[in-house]
Amino acid sequence: METNSDLYRDLDRVLITKDEIAEKVRELGRKITRDYAGKAPVLVCILKGASVFFTDLIREIDLPLTLDFMAISSYGSATKTSGVVRILKDLDNDILGKDVIVVEDIVDTGITLSYLTKILMQRGAKSLRIAALLDKPARRQVPELQVDYMCFNIPDAFVVGYGLDYDQVYRNLPDIGVLSPRVYGDK
Ligand code: IMP
Ligand code: MG
Repeated sequence: METNSDLYRDLDRVLITKDEIAEKVRELGRKITRDYAGKAPVLVCILKGASVFFTDLIREIDLPLTLDFMAISSYGSATKTSGVVRILKDLDNDILGKDVIVVEDIVDTGITLSYLTKILMQRGAKSLRIAALLDKPARRQVPELQVDYMCFNIPDAFVVGYGLDYDQVYRNLPDIGVLSPRVYGDK
């Protein structure tokens, strides 16, 4: 760990290494390429957390896909979702009749994604699937939420790196790690 060593000091441990991530992302890209053969899906990146995963994933998909970006915020403290979701930046393009794949960093309670998928279906998407890098099943509050593509199941711990932040920091860590609770106290 020669790089980002100050950031690594705030981790309890590395949970998933960059090589493990790269392998899963490659597998997922192949699977999406097969599942969407003959189609031109719109890949929607949920900013900012999914940005790193998104840019890696799209390069592993061999289809004439297009990109769009959306930013949402869930009110709450830095480490807990409140359930109230607000669109900060909407899609640039219409998704009517499109095959949409929403790319998200992590499904925690599932509240953010269940809200988002409802909105996107109301806009007339032809199909909608969710691709998420991480899943924390222990914390799910929306059991009916279907996550179609998932890379890793993780335990109920607050993780950072590979796009995921705490207070906007740590997104540039190449690995995913458990943030030491001493960094965020009991916020
Ligand atoms: P949900 O609505 O509870 O599923 O919240 C999902 C969002 O909460 C994610 O998109 C993240 O921005 C954030 N989040 C949840 N768990 C973590 C974590 O362990 N680390 C960093 N962000 C997280
Ligand atoms: Mg997020």
